[in-house]
Amino acid sequence: MKNEIQQQFPLKPLNTFGIEANAAKYISIENETMLPALYNTGAFSSKFFVLGGGSNVLFTQDYDGLIVHMRNKSIHHFIEGNFVYVTAAAGEIWNDLVWYCIHHDFAGLENMALIPGTVGASPIQNIGAYGQELMHIFYSCSAFDTQTGAFVTFNNQDCQFSYRDSIFKKEWKGRYIICSVTYKLPIHAAINISYGAITSELNHRNIVQPTIKDVAEVVSFIRVEKLPDPSTVGNAGSFFKNPIISQEQFLELQHKFPEIVHYPLNNNEYKLAAGWLIEACGWKGKQIGQAAVWKNQALVLTNAGEATGNEIFNLSSRIVDDVYLQFGVKLDREVNIL
Ligand code: FAD
Ligand code: EPU
Repeated sequence: MKNEIQQQFPLKPLNTFGIEANAAKYISIENETMLPALYNTGAFSSKFFVLGGGSNVLFTQDYDGLIVHMRNKSIHHFIEGNFVYVTAAAGEIWNDLVWYCIHHDFAGLENMALIPGTVGASPIQNIGAYGQELMHIFYSCSAFDTQTGAFVTFNNQDCQFSYRDSIFKKEWKGRYIICSVTYKLPIHAAINISYGAITSELNHRNIVQPTIKDVAEVVSFIRVEKLPDPSTVGNAGSFFKNPIISQEQFLELQHKFPEIVHYPLNNNEYKLAAGWLIEACGWKGKQIGQAAVWKNQALVLTNAGEATGNEIFNLSSRIVDDVYLQFGVKLDREVNIL
């Protein structure tokens, strides 16, 4: 039964915002070998959406197409030369993969511990946290082309990764279903504790020579302190991306707002902390109806109870308008709006 298309399927348990919505049609993909048969039914000629853990989506209405829910599982690895290649199926939980690597003493994923969601979504927005980004460990992915019905493989360059972005959000948006991802990890990788909060917490714990397990535990601890747990407070992490602006615009802003939180990039551009901009506009901890701005992190919008997707979207629009009015900076949404 599970392998069949179901009608009027409830999506509330499948999105971390906990928004009430139904899908006109739904199918659970337990194995990617189901995809060619689905293609042959013509399913991909009509509207469809690939769903993983639902931790980066906002449903503003019922979905009137087919939800393709990736739930295939498997993790394996092999070692060649100085590298280990770890391959995980799209439906694997990202954090389970992180801990698979830690248990095998493969470094590279530990700074991204506890990011919600699935392996299949990890390349889509080039997930990142605490000094590590997927693009630095991504080797290749296997994907199903919904336009031709063929399985294809993409390497790192093909995916055109950049900050919270990839070709899967641009030219190839909605075309490929990622079935598995292979990560390439140097066997003797150095531990990365460059992120200030990690160093402070390690010092606090009197850990002088941290293992990758220590790093993952510290990162998980910091995340729990700062971010709401979706199982109790609906949210999708950062609602917006941190904006990147030119040096010229940055210097003007810094002149007016000397305390503006910023990170210089390599190419004369500057990344601003969107959380700071939003807080400076007075939004931190504010609530409108059932949509709220998280009290510990203004970049996170939350469902205060029974919010509709539109309430959350409307709150995000007010924030975009205010930040633009006050700073002349346009915030782009990170979350996928449906
Ligand atoms: P979904 O929300 O299901 O989908 C997201 C997008 O990916 C959609 O466009 C969907 O169509 C597409 N997609 C999903 N699976 C596939 C597939 N197999 N093939 C093709 N397309 C697919 N993100 C970070 O980068 N860093 C963080 O630190 C971080 N922290 C977070 C903290 C919290 C509390 C929450 C709730 C979210 C956070 N996020 C973070 C956002 C989110 O976890 C990531 O974007 C994650 O990769 C989403 O995975 P998912 O499986 O839930 O994707
Ligand atoms: N800040 C404020 N007020 C706030 C929030 C932040 O002033 O309410 C300022 C502080 O100065 C803080 C700085 O912004 O030091 C940065 O905040 P934080 O360390 O929480 O990181 P972030 O830039 O807000 C990004 C990612 C997160 C990721 C963390 C850690 C984006 C859009 N978000 O958040 O990713 O976990 O860094 O690396 O890049 C996500 O994408 O969903 C996500 C949670």
